[in-house]
Amino acid sequence: MYDEAAIQARVRELGAEITAAYPDGELLVLGLLKGSFIFLSDLVRQIERPLQVDFLVASSYGDAMESSGVVRLLYDPETELQGKHILLVEDIVDSGRTLARLLELLSARQPRSLEICALLHKHIAEHLTSPVRFVGFDAPHEFLVGYGLDHAEHFRHVPYVASLE
Ligand code: IMP
Ligand code: MG
Repeated sequence: MYDEAAIQARVRELGAEITAAYPDGELLVLGLLKGSFIFLSDLVRQIERPLQVDFLVASSYGDAMESSGVVRLLYDPETELQGKHILLVEDIVDSGRTLARLLELLSARQPRSLEICALLHKHIAEHLTSPVRFVGFDAPHEFLVGYGLDHAEHFRHVPYVASLE
């Protein structure tokens, strides 16, 4: 679906957009594990300003191809969020359930701003009321794997994004 060169080019653009969007203040980039780990590591190296990195672990899918609707938080960032720009980095926005729940939780900690950066967006997120500020690609309504995205923990390591079919 998206080859290595296309992904790298888009990640460079996103890094430049993010750099320009945060002229001042402290920036904390929060990666949603596990799916964002490759995207996040490429993305932060394209952001040319001081920043902190931490992670969140939420789980909603298990081995299924559809969201269960139950979002479990397995790791909570220890980094202080109050007064900082928080950029939540997600691999793919599908139903938006995971993000909607996380936004509720994180906004209660009084960040200066709270935005989402997703590599892929299926644009079917009826559960998500706030827009995704930074989007890599508008994705088709198919189950995608690679570049961090998995099916039952497989395929995360491939450097491109492909349809599981
Ligand atoms: P949502 O809560 O339905 O938006 O699902 C979000 C999470 O489900 C993402 O962070 C992914 O980990 C996983 N997910 C959703 N769609 C896909 C897909 O097409 N391939 C792999 N994982 C997916
Ligand atoms: Mg997953």
